[in-house]
Amino acid sequence: MKTELWGSYKLSSSAECAKKEIEKLVPDLNQSISSLGAEIKGWKIDKNLLRIRIISTRLRAHEALLRLRSPIGKALGKEYHLGIRETRVDDYTLTFSLEKEPLGVVSIPFANVQIKGKEVRMSLKQLSREFLEKNYIDRMIKLVREKVAKQHYKGKKEYWELMWQSKQKSERWNKDPTEEMLKLGWLKQGPTKGKWFFYPQVASIMSAMEKIALEEVLEPLGFEEVIESHHVPLDIWLKTGHLKSIPGEIYYVSEPLTRKEQDWEDFTDMVKITHKVPEELFKKHLDTPKSGVCYAQCPIIYWSLQNRTIAEESLPIRVFEKRAVSNRYESGGRHGIERVDEFHRIEPVYIGTKSQLLELRERLIERYRHVFEDLLELEWRRAWVTPFYMSQAGEVYEGEGEKVEGTIDFEAWMPYRGDRENSEWLEFQNLSIVGERYIKVFNIKGQKSRLWSGCSGIGLERWTAAFLAQKTLDPENWPEGFKECLSKAPRGIKFL
Ligand code: SER
Ligand code: ZN
Repeated sequence: MKTELWGSYKLSSSAECAKKEIEKLVPDLNQSISSLGAEIKGWKIDKNLLRIRIISTRLRAHEALLRLRSPIGKALGKEYHLGIRETRVDDYTLTFSLEKEPLGVVSIPFANVQIKGKEVRMSLKQLSREFLEKNYIDRMIKLVREKVAKQHYKGKKEYWELMWQSKQKSERWNKDPTEEMLKLGWLKQGPTKGKWFFYPQVASIMSAMEKIALEEVLEPLGFEEVIESHHVPLDIWLKTGHLKSIPGEIYYVSEPLTRKEQDWEDFTDMVKITHKVPEELFKKHLDTPKSGVCYAQCPIIYWSLQNRTIAEESLPIRVFEKRAVSNRYESGGRHGIERVDEFHRIEPVYIGTKSQLLELRERLIERYRHVFEDLLELEWRRAWVTPFYMSQAGEVYEGEGEKVEGTIDFEAWMPYRGDRENSEWLEFQNLSIVGERYIKVFNIKGQKSRLWSGCSGIGLERWTAAFLAQKTLDPENWPEGFKECLSKAPRGIKFL
């Protein structure tokens, strides 16, 4: 990498008088940075600006500029009573090589990026000291590399490796349960897109699924309930990385600027007169979003443990959250009750030593196996996939490492989508070990132990969709194990 810049130190008054001193100083300054690959290649005085040109092959030239601030300040201060008031880069060019040639144009904020073959030339102008000190430059280099790498990954399939597959189960039907439930009046498309209204028949099935998850999986393994807010402040997603990758999937929450009746008078007047929602007035009355609706429950659980030290006797922490409703803006991908903008999920979260979590993962898999095999009698499989925390932070995964940290997807065959071999199975559940990633960003400490964490997503709509797609809507066809939890659907409402 080569970096070159023209920077300037703004002095408290004209530096003309110090020309000689600077001339003497430059060789010493160069000596102090030469081992780092940097060199002052030129300088000039322009009234109260000391302009300086630095070229470097190792240390970034702007770091040299910041480093030289203090010796220059000392030398000029002592003799000439000049102080450095401001440091900035006027013109900065960084050239570096990529591993692969880009496949398209790459642009990033703050810089002009030109790429010829594998050589990148990144030019920036007028950078404040704050900009230079805050590591933006390195992040921009990283971003260029990331964008080029992404162009090469685009179109590649998500990582997927089969781990285990159940026996085939007899096929009972191949209808889409959502369509059938709509016909029967068990379901209604929700009042806004990607949401559903579940009448008692479906609600009872989802509640039975919840009961099974609690009684057959979580309670036997000692999980305890916590209750969190549906609103996730944006700085939590800054930490988890969600804002780097999925800001377009979040439902944002805006607070009213005030709740005073008189401040909203123009709005209420319009409602009274027009009987319409005066949407144009929202700009005036709402704050910019400071939070969003829950996307998954675990980030707030980590936040609740932020900067805390966990007593050894509490390990492994085993908690679950089942009340916050998750929202994801799905756009084109919606389908039935299984791909929605709003869903109900139980999310167990576990924190402990690596070996505690590996043991817990086996026990969870065993309890889940019991539910899907013995109670729901599903045709299902487990696959090692791109870890959810990497895909939700926009990172690429190629199956690296041993299968310790990462995500296991549980998938069910959906007969209505086609045959077992060629159709897409439904991911109805996942189970992850996250390693230290969230523990570190939320600064959670163990009394003695080094902590890891993990979570599992139990999607009630997904469990229900998988079950009904395989076992029909007729309780006669339901396995005995499930019938013990729900023998018949409630009477519901009859529509005329
Ligand atoms: N947090 C995990 C996910 O988003 C489990 O729900 O997939
Ligand atoms: Zn999670």
